[in-house]
Amino acid sequence: MAGLGFANPVFVAIDTPDLGHALSLARAVRPHVGGLKVGLEFLTAQGPDGLRAIVDLGLPVFADTKFHDIPNTVAGAAREIAKLGATIFNVHASGGEAMLRAAKDAAASVDPKIRVIAVTVLTSLADPDLDSVGQRGPALDQVVRLGGLAQRCGLDGVVCSAWEIAALRKAAGPDFLLAVPGIRPEGAELADQRRVMTPRQAAAAGADILVIGRPITAACDPAEAARAVALSLR
Ligand code: C5P
Repeated sequence: MAGLGFANPVFVAIDTPDLGHALSLARAVRPHVGGLKVGLEFLTAQGPDGLRAIVDLGLPVFADTKFHDIPNTVAGAAREIAKLGATIFNVHASGGEAMLRAAKDAAASVDPKIRVIAVTVLTSLADPDLDSVGQRGPALDQVVRLGGLAQRCGLDGVVCSAWEIAALRKAAGPDFLLAVPGIRPEGAELADQRRVMTPRQAAAAGADILVIGRPITAACDPAEAARAVALSLR
């Protein structure tokens, strides 16, 4: 780990619009995970009060905000997220240099410790999808290109798939935070994810944060599923 202090690298993606369900899932997995991630579904339904309620559980919270707008608008949103106590939030690297710098500066003006990371290429996209949105592939090259941009703009890390960890570590060094979704324990459903790896493989490859959603949250017993992931990492 890049010295970033997440003893357990698993952040559970609490993807639900329902506050009660989010809180009960979070409480169930809390003993076995390093943090919680809330994304667009939860944040759109529950807003700032919902995010504060998750932060109040006491684990580090990754607000998966995926901001992508003009710099002034993203700066305003970044200031608001920083006020809510998230440990990490993110923006799309493809928003460009001015937007990335604005996000980082605005967030740091409220909370100098907050970490701002950049989404590179969504883990649900494969090479042919990049072509169809006019991005130069293969995905690995695009991820490394966007990771370099994020690092030059002073961001703390990126979201990437496990397949890109090695290349990013080589390019960005040990202190750049790599948050990795698309994690699937052996035998788990891929669902809409494409560029996947098991928790153990991704941790061994050098991920700082393993973002795991449905393999834990959709399990019959989420606490047990989280515990099994933690054990697989020992
Ligand atoms: O359920 P699953 O393990 O696929 O959840 C992955 C989580 O990571 C989801 O909340 C998704 O929004 C998020 N994510 C992703 N790919 C990215 C960035 C975030 O899957 N590039």
